[in-house]
Amino acid sequence: MKAVAVLPGKPNSVHLREIPTPRLADQPHPHVCLIPEGRGVLVKVLQIGVDATDREINEALYGNAPPGGEHLVIGHESFGQVLEVGDKVTEVKPGDFVSCTVRRPGGSLFDQIGRNDITSEEVYYERGINLCHGYLTEHFVDDAEYVVKVPQNLKHLGVLSEPASVCAKAIEQAFLAQQRLQVWQPKRAFVLGAGQIGLLATMMLKLRNIDVYTVATRPGPHLKSEIAEAYGATYVSTKQTSLADLAQQVGKPDLIFEATGNAEVCFRAMETLAHNGALIWTSITGGKYDVSVDAAKINLEWVLGNKLLVGSVNGNRRHFELGLQALSHGELTYPGVTGRILTNPIAGLDHYAEMMHQLEDKDALKVFVNVGE
Ligand code: BGC
Ligand code: ZN
Repeated sequence: MKAVAVLPGKPNSVHLREIPTPRLADQPHPHVCLIPEGRGVLVKVLQIGVDATDREINEALYGNAPPGGEHLVIGHESFGQVLEVGDKVTEVKPGDFVSCTVRRPGGSLFDQIGRNDITSEEVYYERGINLCHGYLTEHFVDDAEYVVKVPQNLKHLGVLSEPASVCAKAIEQAFLAQQRLQVWQPKRAFVLGAGQIGLLATMMLKLRNIDVYTVATRPGPHLKSEIAEAYGATYVSTKQTSLADLAQQVGKPDLIFEATGNAEVCFRAMETLAHNGALIWTSITGGKYDVSVDAAKINLEWVLGNKLLVGSVNGNRRHFELGLQALSHGELTYPGVTGRILTNPIAGLDHYAEMMHQLEDKDALKVFVNVGE
């Protein structure tokens, strides 16, 4: 069967290759974890989303091949249909629509309790990213433990399961951490960035009845501003209003969800948070980037204001379920809006070059490959 792969460490090595079609009894990553007897699920791939991580892996900024090979099949945002299940699988059955989590457990205590998303080990195993093959292929097998059912009526948004899990986890982490305050009822949030993560976070925060300002560079109206506003948020362009001015006009935010991919913005965000507020960082910023900030002022304000910074990455199966619940709730509350995020369909695995090309498009919200039907 066909797969889209890279040669990690070699820039622009993305290519199409033939790999063996997996069978139910196969072990996809024996160097990390074994699927227990009877717990395998064979999935036919329908759609795979790609994002900046795939672009950076192709630029050889990170990513590693599984041991013993030179190539890495990419793709970590999965959506497919179950073809076959082992005799000890009760969670899903053939015909079900599913997504599959990204990270596989390492050896830390967190991994052992099902929280591989917060592994304390430096090395992490992620399908399509690091040391495990991904989903940009026609079929895959994995442990039922990592397979998450997508409701039939949500299948048009199934390819957003993984990004939704990342947002749902990050927001939940902030609320869990804020229990330190005994009572925290955030009224106002700034979401920085209006890419897929920023927009999904906008929706999830609006669903919690928070007053949301979605902040990005380019003045609206355009698709991103329209989606943010269709969710009931206010879209703000930093070309027209700086973060500091926005905070002056509407008040400082109790919550900031940073998803711009820009390291400077991560630190600038620290200058506008309200007392007792939480700042969530979700951007993955490769390379090196120096910024100058008034460190004394930030430190003083953060200490005197009892503020919290939460870094959050990845999501385990419970976060996928939370993300899917939010997508469902969002679809009932703002019908048809989330589907507008699915901007750039690619006609099949053969068009992998086009897929990489579309990832360069700043206006693309979601590039995804229609692999099968
Ligand atoms: C993925 C996460 C992953 C992270 C770090 C992101 O693009 O969505 O699941 O943990 O990259 O590799
Ligand atoms: Zn991703």
